Amino acid sequence: MRVALLPGDGIGPEVVEAAVRVLEVVAPDLEYETHLVGGAAIDATGAPLPDQTREACLSADAVLLGAVGGPKWSDPRAPVRPEQGLLALRAALGVYANLRPVRVIEALAARSPLRPERVLGVDFLVVRELTGGIYFGSPRGRDEDTGELRAFDTMVYSRSEIARVVELACRFAEGRRHHLTSVDKANVLESSRLWRETTEAVCAHHPSVHLEHQLVDSCAMRLLTHARDFDVIVTANLFGDILTDEAAALTGSLGVLPSASIGDGPRGLYEPIHGSAPDIAGKGVANPVGTIASAALMLRHSLGRPEAASAIELAIDRALGRGALGPDLGGELGTAAITDAILDALE
Ligand code: NAD
Ligand code: IPM
Ligand code: MN
Repeated sequence: MRVALLPGDGIGPEVVEAAVRVLEVVAPDLEYETHLVGGAAIDATGAPLPDQTREACLSADAVLLGAVGGPKWSDPRAPVRPEQGLLALRAALGVYANLRPVRVIEALAARSPLRPERVLGVDFLVVRELTGGIYFGSPRGRDEDTGELRAFDTMVYSRSEIARVVELACRFAEGRRHHLTSVDKANVLESSRLWRETTEAVCAHHPSVHLEHQLVDSCAMRLLTHARDFDVIVTANLFGDILTDEAAALTGSLGVLPSASIGDGPRGLYEPIHGSAPDIAGKGVANPVGTIASAALMLRHSLGRPEAASAIELAIDRALGRGALGPDLGGELGTAAITDAILDALE
Protein backbone atom coordinates (compact mmCIF):
# COMPACT_ATOMS: atom_id res chain seq x y z
CA MET A 1 0.00 0.00 0.00
CA ARG A 2 1.18 3.48 -0.85
CA VAL A 3 1.18 6.48 1.43
CA ALA A 4 1.70 10.00 0.14
CA LEU A 5 3.65 12.04 2.69
CA LEU A 6 3.09 15.79 2.67
CA PRO A 7 5.34 17.25 5.38
CA GLY A 8 4.46 20.87 4.52
CA ASP A 9 5.71 23.79 6.60
CA GLY A 10 6.99 24.72 10.06
CA ILE A 11 6.96 21.73 12.40
CA GLY A 12 5.19 19.64 9.72
CA PRO A 13 8.38 17.89 8.49
CA GLU A 14 9.50 17.21 12.10
CA VAL A 15 6.28 15.49 13.15
CA VAL A 16 5.83 13.57 9.89
CA GLU A 17 9.35 12.18 10.21
CA ALA A 18 8.47 11.00 13.73
CA ALA A 19 5.31 9.27 12.51
CA VAL A 20 7.19 7.51 9.71
CA ARG A 21 9.69 6.16 12.24
CA VAL A 22 6.80 4.52 14.09
CA LEU A 23 5.08 3.30 10.91
CA GLU A 24 8.30 1.68 9.72
CA VAL A 25 8.19 -0.54 12.80
CA VAL A 26 4.50 -1.50 12.87
CA ALA A 27 3.93 -1.66 9.09
CA PRO A 28 7.35 -2.16 7.46
CA ASP A 29 5.89 -2.98 4.05
CA LEU A 30 4.27 0.42 3.40
CA GLU A 31 5.67 2.45 0.50
CA TYR A 32 6.10 6.21 0.70
CA GLU A 33 6.24 9.08 -1.73
CA THR A 34 6.97 12.57 -0.44
CA HIS A 35 5.40 15.62 -2.09
CA LEU A 36 5.22 19.36 -1.70
CA VAL A 37 2.25 21.21 -0.23
CA GLY A 38 1.61 24.61 1.32
CA GLY A 39 4.26 27.28 1.63
CA ALA A 40 7.02 24.87 0.63
CA ALA A 41 5.12 24.20 -2.60
CA ILE A 42 4.49 27.92 -3.21
CA ASP A 43 8.22 28.59 -2.87
CA ALA A 44 9.14 25.77 -5.26
CA THR A 45 6.35 26.00 -7.84
CA GLY A 46 4.18 29.05 -7.16
CA ALA A 47 1.17 26.85 -6.28
CA PRO A 48 0.14 25.56 -2.81
CA LEU A 49 -1.10 22.27 -4.28
CA PRO A 50 0.97 21.46 -7.38
CA ASP A 51 -0.68 19.10 -9.92
CA GLN A 52 1.94 16.48 -9.21
CA THR A 53 1.01 16.47 -5.51
CA ARG A 54 -2.70 16.31 -6.25
CA GLU A 55 -2.25 13.37 -8.66
CA ALA A 56 0.03 11.52 -6.23
CA CYS A 57 -2.54 11.92 -3.43
CA LEU A 58 -5.40 10.79 -5.66
CA SER A 59 -3.53 7.63 -6.60
CA ALA A 60 -2.23 6.82 -3.10
CA ASP A 61 -4.09 4.67 -0.56
CA ALA A 62 -3.72 7.36 2.09
CA VAL A 63 -2.18 10.77 2.67
CA LEU A 64 -0.30 11.79 5.82
CA LEU A 65 0.14 15.54 6.17
CA GLY A 66 2.11 17.59 8.71
CA ALA A 67 0.93 21.19 8.58
CA VAL A 68 0.89 24.15 6.22
CA GLY A 69 1.31 27.88 6.63
CA GLY A 70 3.49 30.36 8.43
CA PRO A 71 4.37 34.02 8.68
CA LYS A 72 6.39 33.96 5.47
CA TRP A 73 3.20 33.39 3.46
CA SER A 74 0.71 35.25 5.65
CA ASP A 75 0.61 38.71 4.09
CA PRO A 76 -3.15 39.37 3.90
CA ARG A 77 -2.67 40.68 0.36
CA ALA A 78 -0.72 37.69 -0.91
CA PRO A 79 -2.40 36.33 -4.05
CA VAL A 80 -2.04 32.74 -2.88
CA ARG A 81 -1.78 31.14 0.56
CA PRO A 82 -0.52 27.77 1.83
CA GLU A 83 -3.90 27.01 3.46
CA GLN A 84 -5.57 27.07 0.02
CA GLY A 85 -3.51 24.00 -0.84
CA LEU A 86 -4.91 22.08 2.10
CA LEU A 87 -8.50 23.10 1.33
CA ALA A 88 -8.05 22.15 -2.34
CA LEU A 89 -6.63 18.78 -1.32
CA ARG A 90 -9.56 18.05 1.02
CA ALA A 91 -11.96 18.92 -1.79
CA ALA A 92 -10.05 16.90 -4.41
CA LEU A 93 -10.03 13.84 -2.16
CA GLY A 94 -13.73 14.26 -1.34
CA VAL A 95 -13.03 13.85 2.36
CA TYR A 96 -16.16 15.48 3.71
CA ALA A 97 -15.91 14.18 7.28
CA ASN A 98 -13.08 15.12 9.59
CA LEU A 99 -12.91 12.84 12.62
CA ARG A 100 -11.24 14.38 15.64
CA PRO A 101 -11.22 12.04 18.63
CA VAL A 102 -10.62 13.73 21.98
CA ARG A 103 -9.60 11.44 24.80
CA VAL A 104 -7.96 12.49 28.06
CA ILE A 105 -5.74 9.71 29.33
CA GLU A 106 -5.17 9.46 33.05
CA ALA A 107 -1.50 10.40 32.82
CA LEU A 108 -2.39 13.73 31.19
CA ALA A 109 -5.30 14.73 33.41
CA ALA A 110 -3.01 16.63 35.76
CA ARG A 111 -1.47 18.53 32.79
CA SER A 112 -4.75 20.06 31.69
CA PRO A 113 -5.33 23.73 32.51
CA LEU A 114 -8.66 22.50 33.90
CA ARG A 115 -8.97 20.64 37.17
CA PRO A 116 -8.26 16.91 36.72
CA GLU A 117 -11.72 15.92 37.99
CA ARG A 118 -13.26 17.92 35.15
CA VAL A 119 -11.27 16.16 32.42
CA LEU A 120 -10.72 12.61 33.71
CA GLY A 121 -12.72 10.19 31.60
CA VAL A 122 -13.31 12.63 28.74
CA ASP A 123 -13.73 10.59 25.57
CA PHE A 124 -15.63 11.97 22.61
CA LEU A 125 -15.44 12.17 18.85
CA VAL A 126 -15.98 15.34 16.86
CA VAL A 127 -17.21 14.78 13.32
CA ARG A 128 -16.48 18.06 11.57
CA GLU A 129 -17.97 18.69 8.12
CA LEU A 130 -14.89 19.42 6.01
CA THR A 131 -15.63 20.28 2.40
CA GLY A 132 -18.50 22.76 2.67
CA GLY A 133 -19.82 25.65 4.70
CA ILE A 134 -18.19 29.04 4.96
CA TYR A 135 -14.79 27.63 3.92
CA PHE A 136 -16.02 26.90 0.42
CA GLY A 137 -19.23 28.87 -0.19
CA SER A 138 -19.53 31.43 -2.93
CA PRO A 139 -19.73 34.28 -3.47
CA ARG A 140 -16.67 35.33 -1.57
CA GLY A 141 -14.41 38.25 -2.19
CA ARG A 142 -14.36 42.02 -1.99
CA ASP A 143 -16.34 44.81 -3.57
CA GLU A 144 -16.90 48.53 -3.28
CA ASP A 145 -20.54 48.46 -4.34
CA THR A 146 -21.61 50.55 -1.36
CA GLY A 147 -18.86 53.11 -1.93
CA GLU A 148 -16.79 51.46 0.78
CA LEU A 149 -14.48 48.47 0.59
CA ARG A 150 -16.23 45.35 1.89
CA ALA A 151 -15.25 41.69 2.14
CA PHE A 152 -17.64 38.75 2.30
CA ASP A 153 -17.79 34.97 2.67
CA THR A 154 -20.81 32.73 2.30
CA MET A 155 -21.93 30.01 4.68
CA VAL A 156 -23.90 27.60 2.52
CA TYR A 157 -24.92 23.96 3.01
CA SER A 158 -27.00 21.72 0.82
CA ARG A 159 -29.23 19.07 2.29
CA SER A 160 -27.07 16.27 0.90
CA GLU A 161 -23.85 17.77 2.28
CA ILE A 162 -25.42 17.81 5.74
CA ALA A 163 -27.09 14.41 5.43
CA ARG A 164 -23.95 12.47 4.48
CA VAL A 165 -21.83 13.76 7.34
CA VAL A 166 -24.64 13.31 9.88
CA GLU A 167 -25.24 9.76 8.59
CA LEU A 168 -21.59 8.98 9.24
CA ALA A 169 -21.75 10.55 12.68
CA CYS A 170 -24.80 8.40 13.52
CA ARG A 171 -22.86 5.27 12.56
CA PHE A 172 -19.99 6.26 14.80
CA ALA A 173 -22.46 6.94 17.63
CA GLU A 174 -23.92 3.45 17.11
CA GLY A 175 -20.45 2.01 17.65
CA ARG A 176 -19.95 4.09 20.81
CA ARG A 177 -22.35 5.31 23.49
CA HIS A 178 -25.28 6.12 21.15
CA HIS A 179 -25.30 9.79 21.99
CA LEU A 180 -25.08 12.46 19.28
CA THR A 181 -24.81 16.20 19.86
CA SER A 182 -25.44 18.27 16.76
CA VAL A 183 -23.93 21.72 17.16
CA ASP A 184 -25.22 24.70 15.20
CA LYS A 185 -26.30 28.33 15.43
CA ALA A 186 -29.92 27.72 14.45
CA ASN A 187 -31.12 30.69 16.50
CA VAL A 188 -29.45 33.00 13.96
CA LEU A 189 -28.32 31.22 10.80
CA GLU A 190 -30.57 29.82 8.07
CA SER A 191 -27.90 27.28 7.10
CA SER A 192 -28.00 26.05 10.70
CA ARG A 193 -31.79 25.69 10.55
CA LEU A 194 -31.41 23.44 7.51
CA TRP A 195 -28.63 21.62 9.38
CA ARG A 196 -30.95 20.97 12.33
CA GLU A 197 -33.90 19.90 10.17
CA THR A 198 -31.73 17.53 8.12
CA THR A 199 -30.08 16.09 11.21
CA GLU A 200 -33.52 15.24 12.64
CA ALA A 201 -34.48 13.49 9.40
CA VAL A 202 -31.26 11.46 9.23
CA CYS A 203 -31.41 10.49 12.90
CA ALA A 204 -34.98 9.23 12.47
CA HIS A 205 -33.37 6.28 10.67
CA HIS A 206 -31.09 5.62 13.65
CA PRO A 207 -33.56 5.08 16.50
CA SER A 208 -30.91 3.83 18.92
CA VAL A 209 -29.02 7.13 18.69
CA HIS A 210 -30.13 9.76 21.16
CA LEU A 211 -29.91 13.12 19.37
CA GLU A 212 -29.57 16.47 21.10
CA HIS A 213 -29.07 19.86 19.52
CA GLN A 214 -26.84 22.47 21.04
CA LEU A 215 -26.02 26.01 20.04
CA VAL A 216 -22.34 26.48 19.32
CA ASP A 217 -21.74 29.25 21.84
CA SER A 218 -23.05 27.30 24.80
CA CYS A 219 -21.32 24.17 23.47
CA ALA A 220 -18.04 26.05 23.73
CA MET A 221 -18.74 26.56 27.40
CA ARG A 222 -20.01 23.03 28.06
CA LEU A 223 -16.77 21.67 26.61
CA LEU A 224 -14.98 23.27 29.54
CA THR A 225 -17.51 22.52 32.25
CA HIS A 226 -19.02 19.13 31.30
CA ALA A 227 -16.83 17.60 28.60
CA ARG A 228 -17.64 14.10 29.81
CA ASP A 229 -21.26 14.62 28.61
CA PHE A 230 -20.17 14.28 25.01
CA ASP A 231 -19.99 11.08 22.98
CA VAL A 232 -20.19 12.14 19.31
CA ILE A 233 -20.45 15.77 18.21
CA VAL A 234 -21.35 16.58 14.61
CA THR A 235 -20.97 20.11 13.35
CA ALA A 236 -20.20 22.44 10.47
CA ASN A 237 -16.73 23.15 9.14
CA LEU A 238 -15.92 26.41 10.96
CA PHE A 239 -17.59 25.45 14.25
CA GLY A 240 -15.71 22.13 14.28
CA ASP A 241 -12.41 23.87 13.61
CA ILE A 242 -12.83 26.18 16.57
CA LEU A 243 -14.35 23.72 19.03
CA THR A 244 -11.61 21.14 18.49
CA ASP A 245 -8.75 23.53 19.25
CA GLU A 246 -10.70 24.37 22.41
CA ALA A 247 -11.14 20.65 23.11
CA ALA A 248 -7.39 20.16 22.73
CA ALA A 249 -6.91 22.22 25.87
CA LEU A 250 -8.74 19.50 27.82
CA THR A 251 -5.82 17.19 27.08
CA GLY A 252 -3.27 19.86 27.95
CA SER A 253 -1.78 20.32 24.47
CA LEU A 254 -2.85 21.00 20.92
CA GLY A 255 0.05 18.72 19.97
CA VAL A 256 -1.64 15.45 20.90
CA LEU A 257 -4.87 15.50 18.91
CA PRO A 258 -5.02 13.51 15.66
CA SER A 259 -7.51 13.64 12.83
CA ALA A 260 -8.77 11.47 10.00
CA SER A 261 -10.53 12.98 7.01
CA ILE A 262 -12.63 10.48 5.17
CA GLY A 263 -15.20 10.32 2.41
CA ASP A 264 -17.12 7.47 0.83
CA GLY A 265 -14.14 5.28 -0.11
CA PRO A 266 -11.25 3.87 1.91
CA ARG A 267 -8.77 6.60 0.96
CA GLY A 268 -8.26 9.26 3.59
CA LEU A 269 -6.21 12.26 4.61
CA TYR A 270 -4.55 12.13 8.02
CA GLU A 271 -3.15 15.10 9.89
CA PRO A 272 -2.73 16.37 13.43
CA ILE A 273 -5.22 19.13 14.26
CA HIS A 274 -2.46 21.62 15.10
CA GLY A 275 -0.79 23.94 12.66
CA SER A 276 2.77 24.65 11.60
CA ALA A 277 3.65 26.19 15.02
CA PRO A 278 6.11 28.77 13.64
CA ASP A 279 7.09 29.74 17.20
CA ILE A 280 8.76 26.36 17.82
CA ALA A 281 9.61 25.21 14.28
CA GLY A 282 13.13 23.90 13.75
CA LYS A 283 13.81 23.52 17.48
CA GLY A 284 13.16 19.79 17.70
CA VAL A 285 10.57 20.24 20.46
CA ALA A 286 7.31 19.75 18.57
CA ASN A 287 5.04 17.17 20.12
CA PRO A 288 4.79 14.32 17.58
CA VAL A 289 1.90 12.53 19.32
CA GLY A 290 -0.89 14.10 17.23
CA THR A 291 0.78 13.01 14.01
CA ILE A 292 1.74 9.55 15.29
CA ALA A 293 -1.86 9.06 16.46
CA SER A 294 -3.03 10.26 13.02
CA ALA A 295 -0.85 7.56 11.46
CA ALA A 296 -2.66 5.06 13.68
CA LEU A 297 -6.02 6.31 12.39
CA MET A 298 -4.64 5.93 8.86
CA LEU A 299 -3.75 2.29 9.53
CA ARG A 300 -7.27 1.67 10.84
CA HIS A 301 -9.45 3.61 8.40
CA SER A 302 -7.53 3.45 5.11
CA LEU A 303 -5.00 0.65 5.25
CA GLY A 304 -6.97 -2.16 6.91
CA ARG A 305 -4.49 -2.66 9.77
CA PRO A 306 -6.53 -2.21 12.96
CA GLU A 307 -4.10 -4.21 15.10
CA ALA A 308 -1.16 -2.02 14.11
CA ALA A 309 -3.31 1.04 14.82
CA SER A 310 -4.20 -0.19 18.30
CA ALA A 311 -0.57 -1.08 18.98
CA ILE A 312 0.47 2.51 18.28
CA GLU A 313 -2.34 3.95 20.40
CA LEU A 314 -1.44 1.70 23.32
CA ALA A 315 2.23 2.63 22.99
CA ILE A 316 1.35 6.34 23.03
CA ASP A 317 -0.69 5.93 26.22
CA ARG A 318 2.10 3.94 27.85
CA ALA A 319 4.84 6.36 26.84
CA LEU A 320 2.86 9.35 28.10
CA GLY A 321 2.07 7.39 31.26
CA ARG A 322 5.79 6.91 31.78
CA GLY A 323 6.30 10.65 31.54
CA ALA A 324 7.44 11.05 27.93
CA LEU A 325 6.37 14.68 27.81
CA GLY A 326 7.66 17.72 25.96
CA PRO A 327 7.62 21.38 27.02
CA ASP A 328 4.00 21.78 25.84
CA LEU A 329 2.96 19.41 28.65
CA GLY A 330 5.43 20.57 31.27
CA GLY A 331 8.13 18.01 30.41
CA GLU A 332 11.54 18.28 28.86
CA LEU A 333 11.70 15.75 26.04
CA GLY A 334 12.08 16.74 22.41
CA THR A 335 10.39 15.29 19.34
CA ALA A 336 12.92 12.50 18.81
CA ALA A 337 13.00 11.44 22.47
CA ILE A 338 9.19 11.25 22.68
CA THR A 339 9.20 9.17 19.49
CA ASP A 340 11.88 6.90 20.98
CA ALA A 341 9.73 6.45 24.09
CA ILE A 342 6.73 5.46 21.94
CA LEU A 343 8.88 3.00 19.98
CA ASP A 344 10.15 1.54 23.27
CA ALA A 345 6.58 1.13 24.49
CA LEU A 346 5.46 -0.79 21.37
CA GLU A 347 4.78 -4.46 21.99
P1 NAD B 1 -0.66 26.37 15.61
O1 NAD B 1 -1.51 25.18 15.83
O2 NAD B 1 0.39 26.25 14.59
O3 NAD B 1 0.02 26.78 17.00
C1 NAD B 1 -0.73 27.21 18.13
C2 NAD B 1 0.12 27.04 19.40
O4 NAD B 1 0.21 25.64 19.70
C3 NAD B 1 1.57 27.52 19.24
O5 NAD B 1 1.98 28.07 20.44
C4 NAD B 1 2.33 26.25 18.94
O6 NAD B 1 3.68 26.28 19.33
C5 NAD B 1 1.54 25.22 19.74
N1 NAD B 1 1.65 23.90 19.08
C6 NAD B 1 1.00 23.52 17.95
N2 NAD B 1 1.36 22.28 17.62
C7 NAD B 1 2.24 21.86 18.55
C8 NAD B 1 2.97 20.66 18.74
N3 NAD B 1 2.86 19.61 17.89
N4 NAD B 1 3.81 20.57 19.80
C9 NAD B 1 3.93 21.59 20.66
N5 NAD B 1 3.26 22.75 20.53
C10 NAD B 1 2.43 22.89 19.48
O7 NAD B 1 -1.67 27.57 15.28
P2 NAD B 1 -1.35 29.05 14.73
O8 NAD B 1 -0.10 29.57 15.35
O9 NAD B 1 -2.61 29.79 14.90
O10 NAD B 1 -1.11 28.87 13.17
C11 NAD B 1 0.18 28.82 12.56
C12 NAD B 1 0.03 28.47 11.10
O11 NAD B 1 -0.43 27.13 10.98
C13 NAD B 1 -0.99 29.34 10.35
O12 NAD B 1 -0.43 29.65 9.09
C14 NAD B 1 -2.19 28.43 10.19
O13 NAD B 1 -2.95 28.70 9.03
C15 NAD B 1 -1.54 27.10 10.06
N6 NAD B 1 -2.39 25.97 10.44
C16 NAD B 1 -2.28 24.86 9.65
C17 NAD B 1 -3.00 23.73 9.97
C18 NAD B 1 -2.87 22.53 9.09
O14 NAD B 1 -1.98 22.49 8.26
N7 NAD B 1 -3.72 21.54 9.22
C19 NAD B 1 -3.79 23.71 11.12
C20 NAD B 1 -3.85 24.86 11.91
C21 NAD B 1 -3.15 25.99 11.56
C1 IPM C 1 -7.19 22.79 10.63
C2 IPM C 1 -6.66 24.13 10.17
C3 IPM C 1 -7.17 24.41 8.77
C4 IPM C 1 -8.69 24.55 8.85
C5 IPM C 1 -6.58 25.64 8.05
C6 IPM C 1 -5.09 25.63 8.05
C7 IPM C 1 -7.10 25.75 6.66
O1 IPM C 1 -6.98 25.13 11.07
O2 IPM C 1 -6.97 21.79 9.95
O3 IPM C 1 -7.80 22.73 11.71
O4 IPM C 1 -9.21 25.60 9.26
O5 IPM C 1 -9.36 23.59 8.50
MN1 MN D 1 -7.80 24.39 12.94
